[in-house]
Amino acid sequence: MSETSDPANRIAELRGILLRHNDLYYRSSQPEIADVEYDALKAELAGLEEMHPGLAHADSPAATVGDDRIEGFVTRRHLQPMLSLDNTYNEGEVREFAARLERMFPGQRLAFTVETKMDGLAASLVYENGQLVRVVTRGNGTEGDDITHNLPCLQGVPRVLASVPGGFPVPSLVEVRGEIYMTFSEFRRVNAAREEAGEPLYANPRNLASGTVKQLVCPRDRSLRVVTYGLGQCEPEVPSTQAALNEALRSWGLPVGDFFQLVEGAEGVWEAITKLDEKRHAFDYPTDGAVVKLNDTALQREAGFTSKAPRWAMAYKFAPEQAETRLRDITLQVGRTGVLTPVAELEPVLLSGSTISRATLHNESEILRKDIRVGDTVVIEKAGEVIPAVVRVVLEKRPAEAVPFDFAACASGLGLDAERVQDQAAWRLKTPSEEQRIRRLFHFASKQCLDIDGLGHAVAEQLVTKGLVQNPTEIYRQTKEQLLGLEKFAETSADNLLAAIGVSKTRELWRVIHAIGIPNVGAQTAKDLARHFRSLDALMNATADQLLVTHVGSKGGISHESVIEGVGKIVASSIQTYFSDPLHRQWVEDLRSSGVSLVETQPQAAVVEGVAGKTFVLTGTLPALGRDAAREMIEKAGGKVAGSVSKKTHYVVAGEEAGSKLDKARELGVAVLDEAGLRALLGAVG
Ligand code: IVH
Repeated sequence: MSETSDPANRIAELRGILLRHNDLYYRSSQPEIADVEYDALKAELAGLEEMHPGLAHADSPAATVGDDRIEGFVTRRHLQPMLSLDNTYNEGEVREFAARLERMFPGQRLAFTVETKMDGLAASLVYENGQLVRVVTRGNGTEGDDITHNLPCLQGVPRVLASVPGGFPVPSLVEVRGEIYMTFSEFRRVNAAREEAGEPLYANPRNLASGTVKQLVCPRDRSLRVVTYGLGQCEPEVPSTQAALNEALRSWGLPVGDFFQLVEGAEGVWEAITKLDEKRHAFDYPTDGAVVKLNDTALQREAGFTSKAPRWAMAYKFAPEQAETRLRDITLQVGRTGVLTPVAELEPVLLSGSTISRATLHNESEILRKDIRVGDTVVIEKAGEVIPAVVRVVLEKRPAEAVPFDFAACASGLGLDAERVQDQAAWRLKTPSEEQRIRRLFHFASKQCLDIDGLGHAVAEQLVTKGLVQNPTEIYRQTKEQLLGLEKFAETSADNLLAAIGVSKTRELWRVIHAIGIPNVGAQTAKDLARHFRSLDALMNATADQLLVTHVGSKGGISHESVIEGVGKIVASSIQTYFSDPLHRQWVEDLRSSGVSLVETQPQAAVVEGVAGKTFVLTGTLPALGRDAAREMIEKAGGKVAGSVSKKTHYVVAGEEAGSKLDKARELGVAVLDEAGLRALLGAVG
């Protein structure tokens, strides 16, 4: 990472980095870095923004809670915002938090509660007159995604709140706040089944829990749980303390955490945290810390909130556990684009309850930066069951014969023909290995690409290892006889797979663009490219200037201007490099001769005046049309649908129960349409 000395640059850089990781964590459920690293980047940004208030911004990832909302879900507004918590890894800061509140309320002996911080995803359960009406994710804190349809996956959520004589009365309206999580045992069960099927394993329970909840159709083969710990809106009255609240939740039949202590002062808080740290290893669920809250609800109210977190609560995060072991070897794992990821092969060691024998080393520069050598004793770390990483080398234990790591030598030792990608830390194969061919075919057939039903990882592996498919486009040459030669393949399965391969020939252009595996082109960029170029030939033959406009300034400086959303310097050059390879041009010809559709079949954009090239944001429920149909109509007419409202938005289409996006539209003076207005605007094509 480049540490620039100019604070404005570093702030901009950190914002970009954090926005990317927010997206990976909240939306894709696939974080690339451990929480500690993420928290450190966020703390750095918050520090810089504090030092340079002129450069701070209300939208900064340091000041907001992230956003888990994704396409396809109905958005619901929370009655009370769902905030985040300030967090620390430092005992002193926990004590300072308690001391600060004691200064705020002098002369009082303050009581605090200490409870488990579950590592899952935050959700709000809404009960009206004791009946569960809806489950909503945190979203951006103001509005979240409605996930009520996934209730069958959530175990232990009462549909009706129990009313206990003498207990706290069941509210007429209440937003119960809690965390959705997956137990370790369930996580292991799901992964064992995937291993059996030859599918890639999930990295940790938290990501699997959020990935499960963020499905449009309820996945019945996995179970999640919920723990509740707080309230949003609560009518007619709220419990007077956090302890009473915990008791009320329990009496209503809601699951609460296993650890809950009421203590006094900073000393009491720290003792309870230490106790929790000792106990949590025995829990069958992931915990990443302790949450400390001021017990008295009236005092909480007085202490108030910052824009993103309460001043009366704080999270203490447990530092990830570490272990020392010996690095036996470094091997290279091959990805579908041929990128080589170095992997540490370790002397097996016990860490957070499981035996670790491999850890990721990320890339070459990471190894060189940490000067990791085969034979070294290394410190490894596992944060919330993310794949363990090598943190550092114990230099005092380095054997005299250890030599610096040589990527090229390692690759050739493994029989891999690789080269360093220009300007990047990555190494890539020059000629694909079997492993790469399997991954490439699996990607080609996957849901987000040509969606060939029945072509999972195990089948891809057989097709490649039996020599039936070298390049993914050869899937269209398979005959029934060949498929019958695969393990576990009989008449019906072979027929079904052939039929699925046939169906995939008529899929949308963006799927083809995504499937052929241009490095740095994901599904969204593929869609933007398809809309812009309208045929694979046009994309293949695009000149540099058609992909990206380059300006040469009067002083000779060069700047770039995107002509296609999502296509900057890296993507543009990646596309050009990809199609400069004769093999890839041959693939396009193979697809053509197999009868795969290589053109955009949607009507040409710009058919509807006033819609083409305009950006729309959909919010609330569109009763007649539904969001998917509305989106399709807008896109057919050449418009684009975005997820959030900004100054660049041309229209907000607001349905019933439209939330904060509508407020934002009004604030920015963006035109607002209802469903009828949208139909009118679409006119001819509507
Ligand atoms: S209270 C306004 N209590 O941690 C205070 N949060 O890092 C809201 N979390 O957004 C949170 N266990 O998703 C609270 N016992 C607990 C928690 C907890 C896990 C999550 C929650 C929150 C996040 C902040």
